[in-house]
Amino acid sequence: MIRIQIPATSANLGSGFDSLGVALTMYNQVWMEVSDETVITSKDDIKIPTDKSNLIYWSAEHLYKECGKKLPGLKIIQENNIPMTRGLGSSSACIVAGLVGANRFLGNPLTDKDLINLASQIEGHPDNTTPAIMGGLVTSAIDGDKVYSVSVPVASNIRFGVFIPPFELSTEYARGVLPDTYTKEQAVFNLSRSSLMTSSLFSGSLENLRVAVQDQLHQPYRKHLIKGIDTVFRISYELGSYGTYISGAGPTIIAIIDDKHANDFSTHAITSLEDKGFTGWQFVMLSADSEGAKIILD
Ligand code: HSE
Repeated sequence: MIRIQIPATSANLGSGFDSLGVALTMYNQVWMEVSDETVITSKDDIKIPTDKSNLIYWSAEHLYKECGKKLPGLKIIQENNIPMTRGLGSSSACIVAGLVGANRFLGNPLTDKDLINLASQIEGHPDNTTPAIMGGLVTSAIDGDKVYSVSVPVASNIRFGVFIPPFELSTEYARGVLPDTYTKEQAVFNLSRSSLMTSSLFSGSLENLRVAVQDQLHQPYRKHLIKGIDTVFRISYELGSYGTYISGAGPTIIAIIDDKHANDFSTHAITSLEDKGFTGWQFVMLSADSEGAKIILD
């Protein structure tokens, strides 16, 4: 069996709706091998589809079809460390695992660029799938059916404080609450801030982040779907966040902080959540992952 490690990803980073994303140091592991029978199991208690509708299987089969081949079946074992439907790229991780594994089984007929295009077509937007493949901080733009993207490293002084709620929020639903049209002012507001976000995370210019996370395209319309969001934002800023935003479509909330304060921030974030009665919320401190999905030979 091959083992594929795929990072969690945080899309949008506040202002970069459907275009910015960062890979994080939280990983799913997937073991796969081609087999005449399909057997899909999980190493944990997380419920996953065990038939061919499983997203890893479906994506692998999709790649086989794209290459004009027939997939006989797959044995898949999943270790699901990325919480599902929380805005941390769990579905992208499954898509990428299926594609990377299937490509390896066929002798790597597709390039990384081909995988990026295919993953984005399956997911519908590139801002989780591309960083899951490339690692780092990724800007992506779609032109026709192609993704144009660049991955740059995140400055080494930056950490991501991740507040994960005990409830799910489907991306489909959270996209459904967004308006159909925006004004020129709103477009300019986000363009300027998403550009500022990329250059500030790359250069470690923490002082820009409070402005760079501002957004008028999605967060104002999604806030009401995340119970407790105002309190979590307040806690994060009181503890020294440089910029706090809804990760992807939510409901996870991420505070961007300075590595020097990471330990203190974690201790106090956990205590504050408990004090405010946020039962079931988790807090984890992560860094940016620079490698993206990789096959590990055990
Ligand atoms: N850019 C997407 C959205 C991310 O905000 O809907 C969802 O994973």
